[in-house]
Amino acid sequence: MSTQHKTSHFLFFTLLAVCTFSFIACTHQNSDDAQMNAFIDKLMAEMTLEEKIGQLNLPVGGDIVTGGVHSSLSMEDIRNGKVGGLFNLKGAQAIRDVQRIAVEQSRLGIPLLFGMDVIHGYETIFPLPLALSCSWDLQAIERSAQIAAREATADGICWTFSPMVDVCHDGRWGRISEGSGEDPYLGSRIAEAMVRGYQGASLADKQTMMACVKHFALYGAVEAGREYNNVYPDDFHAFNEYMQPYKAAVDAGAGSVMAAFNTVHGIPSSGNRWLLTDLLRDQWKFNGFVVSDYTGVQHLGDNGVSASHEQSNIQCIEAGLDMLMVGEDLDQLVAAVNEGRCSKLSIDNACRRILEAKYKLGLFDDPYRYCDTTLREQVILCDDHRAEARRIAGECMVLLKNDNNLLPLQKKGTIALIGPLADARNNMAGTWAVAAVTDKYKTVKEGMEDALRGTGARLLYAKGSNLMYDASQEAIATIFGHSIRDDRSVETMRQEALNIARQADVIVAVMGEASEMSGECASRVNIEMPDAQHDMLARLAQLGKPIVLVHFAGRPTVMNWESEHLPAILESWFGGSECADAIADVLFGDVNPSGKLSVQLPRHVGQYPFSYRAMRTSRPNEGGDFAKYSSCYADVSSKPLYPFGYGLSYTTFAYSDFYLTDTVMPLNGSVDVHVTVTNTGNRAGAEIVQLYIADRVAKGVRPYKELRGFERVELAAGESREVVFTLDADRMGYYEPYNLTWTMESGDVDVMVGANSAETEKRLLHVQ
Ligand code: NOJ
Repeated sequence: MSTQHKTSHFLFFTLLAVCTFSFIACTHQNSDDAQMNAFIDKLMAEMTLEEKIGQLNLPVGGDIVTGGVHSSLSMEDIRNGKVGGLFNLKGAQAIRDVQRIAVEQSRLGIPLLFGMDVIHGYETIFPLPLALSCSWDLQAIERSAQIAAREATADGICWTFSPMVDVCHDGRWGRISEGSGEDPYLGSRIAEAMVRGYQGASLADKQTMMACVKHFALYGAVEAGREYNNVYPDDFHAFNEYMQPYKAAVDAGAGSVMAAFNTVHGIPSSGNRWLLTDLLRDQWKFNGFVVSDYTGVQHLGDNGVSASHEQSNIQCIEAGLDMLMVGEDLDQLVAAVNEGRCSKLSIDNACRRILEAKYKLGLFDDPYRYCDTTLREQVILCDDHRAEARRIAGECMVLLKNDNNLLPLQKKGTIALIGPLADARNNMAGTWAVAAVTDKYKTVKEGMEDALRGTGARLLYAKGSNLMYDASQEAIATIFGHSIRDDRSVETMRQEALNIARQADVIVAVMGEASEMSGECASRVNIEMPDAQHDMLARLAQLGKPIVLVHFAGRPTVMNWESEHLPAILESWFGGSECADAIADVLFGDVNPSGKLSVQLPRHVGQYPFSYRAMRTSRPNEGGDFAKYSSCYADVSSKPLYPFGYGLSYTTFAYSDFYLTDTVMPLNGSVDVHVTVTNTGNRAGAEIVQLYIADRVAKGVRPYKELRGFERVELAAGESREVVFTLDADRMGYYEPYNLTWTMESGDVDVMVGANSAETEKRLLHVQ
């Protein structure tokens, strides 16, 4: 048989197999759906209106505090079928006990959903989402979500309020720590990976949990970076800069969506019919359920668009909201339906969607399937999970500066370890680690001691300073009881540190933000190194010894002084439960850093909102310095201190053989972009190869540069690898003005490849 024949036979059978498989899968899906629908039809036929409304109710169920108002949960309400789910209750036994009340003591025995903010791990804590995104490693990110699901589901939880996919251009916003940075393309790929990780191939698998994409929509654009503030992107910018990760997560099959606190088009997201029904369900075909954020429905009153809880509840449910997190006065909906103020259909739809989620999670088959109290001992914080968390934490750190290859350090001589975060156990997990067991995590000091044990190297430690001079500010920065404040005088602490530093060959300063300086309601206008720590660093710098700054942060920090005066800076973010070991791995070269910034670091807080992916302006300013009548600042460069995509390695990489397979691409065709990367140093390392495009002329304004591809490549010393990206209209398009459809226009496009957004080489592509 000729090769051509073999190929066509192969193609034919492959196609046949794919079609048969799709047909079987589809038929199977249809029969699953039919079974589910029949089950729910029957159940709903038995439910009273009160019981249906009960399914919409999601009160707090435990002691974990994630909001200012605690709902009044009574077991009586559960018995009476007035509760659909609970959140913030930790522990398989505690959850089993409450589930038993719902299943065995309520009239219809409908099981409850148990949710939690499992944001970057359960008890094994992974790096903060912002840090995770700096790995650009989709497999690692997916794995982190999978492990989070394994642990949470072993402890009774079947629903996580994650991924948070809000694109953010403002480091003042404390919640930038919870997302994947500033870029919608990178954010979308990560959103998909997280959903895959949490939900696996099927929610019926009891080691997977339902994801909840949040905060829909546009929350990352809060004005001035102030928490709970309004957002103002117009539709064109909303779709081109913010919406894509939500859609990517929905397309990846996320089972639920959380409505944002902010308004969109002047209407609160929870009560926004255009957002929740027209866009999410009708256009995007989302078929899961929508939950409000914490007391989100009552905020219609704060926003001044509703005069009563009843009005807020009706508006939200009729807009397409299904479940109220810490809602109020749901009981009143009974009269509202009976008296015609609220449609019965909206209540039925919402109830059905909640029941569908329970069905898909297998709760009707076995309401206790997530409450195996022996499993938690085997799974949670197991060696395998901790090892993965350590490996992944190492991948997330970004080496910002390394003059004269100060890093990696050798395991010899005397090292002075200084800083209020160097031995602060409660600080290790970072914000949004509500299930963390912080006493089980090592401090940086312990991680370094373990790494140096038996080497003969000496590690001296001094705290050096408090977090900040102002005790009341420090109390806010450690608000959840994680205080590390020292009563000694500034001078005593300082002299102690200077004293050990004088004896050392190298100083490792572990400084930056405490865990609660980022996260919810942790907006700040000062995003520099806190004063007391800065002053300590400045005194250490006067000693003239080599200093490595290991920087903890949940947001981009302004580090002009540090960058000018210190030879080595490692942005470690918050690396999670295993980050002490991971930091030691990187400091001593057992791991070669490979993280790259998913958010650029500014020179001044006044640059915000700020993104490498800024839309073109009139009178552009190329260089960033002041030039009259150009878009710039008079007193600071408009460029970042460290650009998006930037990060160093202990090895070096060279790019070569960059070409496109064609210089012309038909609108419905594609071209491949080739580039070869070589590890030119003498140790193995990973490079994140980045592909950017810039559409020179389009109907709607386009960014100067936008990421449209990336690949993480691991290379042995001296090794080369060719990376190939395929460009087509899907990859290169944008939402065009007015009708907001995804479009690729003809014309010239610069295609750029490089190691970060500021250092790229370009080739011209003509699209026609
Ligand atoms: C409010 C936060 O905005 C949201 O992200 C979180 O999931 C809920 N609280 C529940 O804790």
